Amino acid sequence: MDAFRVDSKGPLSTPLHGTVVVGGAKNSALKLMAATLLAPGTSTVHNVPDILDVEVMGQLLGELGCTVEVTGGPTVGDPGSCRVTVPEELGSKAPYQLVRRLRASIAVLGPLVARCGHASVALPGGDAIGSRGLDMHLSGLEELGARVRVEHGQIVAEVTDRLRGARLALDFPSVGATENLLMAAVLAEGSTLIDNVAREPEIGDLCQMLVAMGARIEGIGSSTLEITGVERLHPVEHTTVADRIVAGTWAFAAAIGGGEVRIDGGNADHLDIVLDKLANAGATVSTTRAGFTVAVDRRLRSFDVSTLPYPGFPTDLQPFAMALASVSDGTSMITENVFEARFMFAQELARLGADLRTDGHHAVVRGRPELSGAPVDAHDIRAGAALVLAGLAAQGTTVVSGSHHVDRGYPRLDEALCSLGADVRRQ
Ligand code: UD1
Repeated sequence: MDAFRVDSKGPLSTPLHGTVVVGGAKNSALKLMAATLLAPGTSTVHNVPDILDVEVMGQLLGELGCTVEVTGGPTVGDPGSCRVTVPEELGSKAPYQLVRRLRASIAVLGPLVARCGHASVALPGGDAIGSRGLDMHLSGLEELGARVRVEHGQIVAEVTDRLRGARLALDFPSVGATENLLMAAVLAEGSTLIDNVAREPEIGDLCQMLVAMGARIEGIGSSTLEITGVERLHPVEHTTVADRIVAGTWAFAAAIGGGEVRIDGGNADHLDIVLDKLANAGATVSTTRAGFTVAVDRRLRSFDVSTLPYPGFPTDLQPFAMALASVSDGTSMITENVFEARFMFAQELARLGADLRTDGHHAVVRGRPELSGAPVDAHDIRAGAALVLAGLAAQGTTVVSGSHHVDRGYPRLDEALCSLGADVRRQ
């Protein structure tokens, strides 16, 4: 069993004090690595986090014929870098053994069709947080002129000559669909307009890298992107945007554990709604030159949260909000609008004594003065990290099984929490 063991005397019993450093965003770095496929030659993505997903994406690029070298670590002043050398002739098959380990590998679909005129990418399959459809990825590629079919568990997309620009409108501002279609459109013939795109900072990051590679993109940061296709892109060096979800996780760590945590490298502008919620609940949030600080010296008040695409409250931080609500003063309402199955986490939180009820995509959480330590299971990255933080407010010992899920998003979470004064160990 791989697990984190958290020992605590209850909420605010051992306030957290110190500084954490936030590295590059997992959800950006993986897509930037996929984007390197668009240009033959050597591209380097800097500030990549030291997590297994980066290694798996590297293996996938290797399978496609690239040479991948990941160097450095996530320590201050020495963030990791990933050098990808992309050949003129790329392989175009992404096999199930790799894709199943990393859903983000679907991001190679768009670049491969655009570069090779052919891509065969395994269906990633279900996920512990919901069905996660791909219809918009596939229909968008069809509108760009690809013939798309699913056979033997592989998505096969082909185009005879070049993709051609089109007007697309997404039904929902999907992060993954926006990324795939954008990466396909930059090499398409003519111009493409994609309406209702996702506006997450990671999309802006990808756009900046593509522009540096020679792509022509208008409307970056807005909900409509206008792309004028070019025939060829060139390799670049690009630095990954800071991980707003990791930064937000540290804000919730301070809110749940109490104390004062300085979050260096975190961009408060990318967490507007989240930090507003915490401030309204009674936390003191201040920006610093290097990031921001969250300080909490008493039990926070209850609050309501409704997840939405950016700039709304991020679904990835919803489990942390639920964990905080379970020890806040009053009743909170949490609404999950993006991933239907994310409330699986509520059952685990209830094992720690949280008083909550879910109905469809709503949860009512009645705050308790403290939780009570128990063995619980991490089903995904965020739920796992949120259970570790809930353990800080649970009297006794909390054992969170499935620490490998947490390691996929948080390099050495236990060490960072210990450096702030918490008692968290791996077992
Ligand atoms: C990405 C992030 C994930 C984050 C999510 C929303 C990565 C690796 N993951 O996931 O951490 O929680 O954005 O911010 O970057 N959908 C469809 N059809 C489609 C595409 C999406 O129905 O073609 C649905 C999904 O099932 C889901 C919702 O749209 O319910 C949002 O999905 P999407 O924004 O695409 O998230 P991901 O890119 O999978």
